[in-house]
Amino acid sequence: MKKTVLVAGGTGYIGSHTAVELIQKGYNVVIADSLENSEITVLDGIEKITGVKPQFEELDLSERESCLGLFKKYSNIDAVIHFAAYKAVGESVDFPLKYYRNNLNSLMNILEGMKLVGTNNLVFSSSCTVYGQPDLLPVTEKTDIQEANSPYGNTKQISEEIIRDFLNVNKNQKAIALRYFNPIGAHASALIGELPIGVPNNLVPFITQTVAGLRQELSVFGDDYNTPDGSAVRDYIHVVDLAKAHVVAIDRMLEDKNKAQLEYFNLGTGNGVSVLECIESFEKVTGLKVPHKIVGRRAGDIEQIWANTSYANDELGWKAELGIDDCMLSAWNWEKNIRNIK
Ligand code: UFG
Repeated sequence: MKKTVLVAGGTGYIGSHTAVELIQKGYNVVIADSLENSEITVLDGIEKITGVKPQFEELDLSERESCLGLFKKYSNIDAVIHFAAYKAVGESVDFPLKYYRNNLNSLMNILEGMKLVGTNNLVFSSSCTVYGQPDLLPVTEKTDIQEANSPYGNTKQISEEIIRDFLNVNKNQKAIALRYFNPIGAHASALIGELPIGVPNNLVPFITQTVAGLRQELSVFGDDYNTPDGSAVRDYIHVVDLAKAHVVAIDRMLEDKNKAQLEYFNLGTGNGVSVLECIESFEKVTGLKVPHKIVGRRAGDIEQIWANTSYANDELGWKAELGIDDCMLSAWNWEKNIRNIK
């Protein structure tokens, strides 16, 4: 019989790509999302790609009664992937309580719901932000967790602690926390992708929107970092590679391959790429210029970070396959599709 996975936040960017990969792997998918930061039409994209329209529940998981109601309705769920959280670093500085309330309540409600109906497997969306600016690169899962530099980052650290404490007294529960580096790109079909609301905070949607004519010019935040070309370095991972890692994590839990009750994995490519290299890659694969100017550093940015992916590669048998050029091309194809650019 098909196993069922609840994808909380499944109409969002990473959630929708993961729903596709789960369906294609033969899982039955139930999506729960408040639609506060995503569009219902994402379900059509998922259906066009997979031929399956997932069951959908519109609700706010940070509301306890609604969340518990969801678990009572779908008491056959085998595993949960929890993506439903706010993720804008800058906004979290301005509205800390909004971030703590939403990100922590939704997690606690989901854990309570899982316990209520006996669903024992959780995959949690964490972030490399838990490492801050590490002294040593690349970052392994054993790298020290540093004090978070934003309320958003703190919600990820606290969430990992909440899961740890919950598992400590619920021995039949298992969890895998996936620490993402910088997810970018879009599905090869260009039927789903990132849909930022308003002016994008993140680099790649800002690049694609600038080239599409929605923004005048990209600001490159800083060229005086201690990096090869002076711009900041990140580990950009294609969202489809990231989505596939979630399927591997779900398989691992449902096939009881976990070595420990709680596991952490870095999900990146292992390569550091600078902001200027991202622009270069975009221009190379699309043949289009990215209008840009160098401005001062952005508050709160770290200089450089990239992942040591050995543990995920060896333990999960998963490896990111797509590079920066694939990311840029797919992101541009998606932008073209939603803006009707030929
Ligand atoms: N950047 C620009 N111009 C822009 C936007 C970004 O130069 O208009 C630069 C940033 O300064 C940074 C790089 O591009 O050097 C990447 O920035 P993003 O905003 O795309 O991503 P971040 O690395 O800041 O943040 C991402 C996720 C967060 C997560 C964080 C962990 O968006 O959710 O990684 O490091 F917490």
